[in-house]
Amino acid sequence: MLLLRSLLLLPALLLALLQVRVEAGRPLKVLGLFPHPGVSHFHFFQPLMQALAEAGHDVHVVSHFPLKNPTVRYKDYPLTGMDKLTNSVDLKMFDNRAFYTLYFEFFMLYEWGKQACNLTLRSDALHEVLRRRAGYYDVIIVEQFNSDCMMGVAHQLQAPVIALSSSAMMPWYFENMGVPIIPSYIPCLFLGQSQDMNFVGRFANWITFHSFNLMYKMFSIPAADALVQYKFGHETPSVGKLAKNTSVFFVNQHYALSGPKPLPPNVIELGGLHIQKAKPLSDELQRLLDNAEHGVIVISWGSMIRANSLSADKRDGIVRAATRLRQQVIWKWENETLPNKPPNMHVMEWLPQRDILCHPNVKVFMTHAGLMGSTEAAYCGVPVVATPMYGDQFLNAAALVQRRMGVLLHYEDINENTVMRAIRRALDPKHMQAAKLVSHSFNHRPLESMRKALWWVEHVAHTNGNPLLKPSSVEMSRFVYYSLDCYLALGLILGIVIGSWIILIRSCCGKRPDRKTKKD
Ligand SMILES: *[C@@H]1O[C@H](CO)[C@@H](O)[C@H](O)[C@H]1NC(C)=O
Ligand SMILES: *[C@@H]1O[C@H](CO)[C@@H](O)[C@H](O)[C@H]1NC(C)=O
Ligand SMILES: *[C@@H]1O[C@H](CO)[C@@H](O)[C@H](O)[C@H]1NC(C)=O
Repeated sequence: MLLLRSLLLLPALLLALLQVRVEAGRPLKVLGLFPHPGVSHFHFFQPLMQALAEAGHDVHVVSHFPLKNPTVRYKDYPLTGMDKLTNSVDLKMFDNRAFYTLYFEFFMLYEWGKQACNLTLRSDALHEVLRRRAGYYDVIIVEQFNSDCMMGVAHQLQAPVIALSSSAMMPWYFENMGVPIIPSYIPCLFLGQSQDMNFVGRFANWITFHSFNLMYKMFSIPAADALVQYKFGHETPSVGKLAKNTSVFFVNQHYALSGPKPLPPNVIELGGLHIQKAKPLSDELQRLLDNAEHGVIVISWGSMIRANSLSADKRDGIVRAATRLRQQVIWKWENETLPNKPPNMHVMEWLPQRDILCHPNVKVFMTHAGLMGSTEAAYCGVPVVATPMYGDQFLNAAALVQRRMGVLLHYEDINENTVMRAIRRALDPKHMQAAKLVSHSFNHRPLESMRKALWWVEHVAHTNGNPLLKPSSVEMSRFVYYSLDCYLALGLILGIVIGSWIILIRSCCGKRPDRKTKKD
């Protein structure tokens, strides 16, 4: 009897289970808008889009980087016509750096942002996407970097927006998300300081935070507005206002490396999101790494910077230093020939960086301190010699040094002796210890980054952007946000109290000389 009943119940139970599954797992329509042509940025975005497709959602991606073999639910809408910023930065640009380079960098970002906006708004890719009705997409994922142009597109499609940042948050997004700007210890991306700053550093940090915010409001937002309103009509709200409607912000940071910060729940740290499962190395590399009895030093200056454009004396300096080392040296170098290459030096056009760095024989990683490489060093626990060149690399390098897992080597100082000294210092066991400590915190989390990201994407889609996440500060004026109204009121009250005391004292003490004069 019991058996029969449970047998009868079984199909119903299965059906109910199935229904719950389908309900919870209703495939979402996700749109990714990535107009910036920097491939290192896309290396952070792509794994998320890929994982969303693998989780059963329909993913449409507007970017400069269509996949060679896209999976079933991943559809590319490729952008064309803007030089991709891969292996494209000439190192000669960084031979002379001055303070104003910072402002030069801002205007470079501004110019890139305007161009990418213009190109994307006029592209066939976007035209295709915009043929869908408003409300077709459940959630839109956009890069928030140097332009808010794509917020205009999101506004047309009427879907909640998730922002992605492949670097630390740009200074102009703090207020949008309700993140407090605290220049006394939160370093601005452009300056390259850690959380420990001296007075001059804090002062420069304050100036940079506020001047860059102002410049963004003065230049970047109006430039994007002009292009967006030309495309969608003049009643379109300002993208600066639309950007405040961002539901959740995913940022490529983790406290273990870049330091703890006060973040509201709408800002999610996902440092390490791009790090994939280990893949086997090629036989050649595996043998090289396994047999290096004194360890291996890895040199890689990222995908954006052509090692080829290194000046001859710097290049020779590195080669001569390698000749004096007992370690094997692997260098990502985009040229088959390298003059005077010693036998312990191995040049490769491309490196499976993550898999090499996690090999226990790797002792030091020489890097430009791009966030991808810095994150991989933190993940694998490898000390670094950091040679930052532009953008957020100074910030990452400062964090690596502050966490004691890094040694700084200035690009303009590169020669045989400085390279030698930097590597010797980085080989000190205390740096390895610190790197392992960072690695432990980096890798022990309540929820793995990708699962956290997927959860938030689905949550934002199912709650239409969960308006409860938005702090009231987002819509406040700066005057009210910084309590300047209260200081003003306090000042007024204090002024009135002191003023009336002065009047009182004057009127009682002012009589005495009066009396005196009367007596006289
Ligand atoms: C946008 O692109 C068009 C065509 O390429 C060009 O004529 C126009 O000047 C550009 N606008 C801006 C603001 O760059
Ligand atoms: C703000 O976002 C919500 C979804 O989170 C959307 O419904 C609304 O239309 C957006 N507002 C504007 C002005 O685009
Ligand atoms: C490789 O280096 C040699 C000599 O330094 C140079 O002449 C040649 O143009 C380089 N090749 C490439 C593909 O950059």
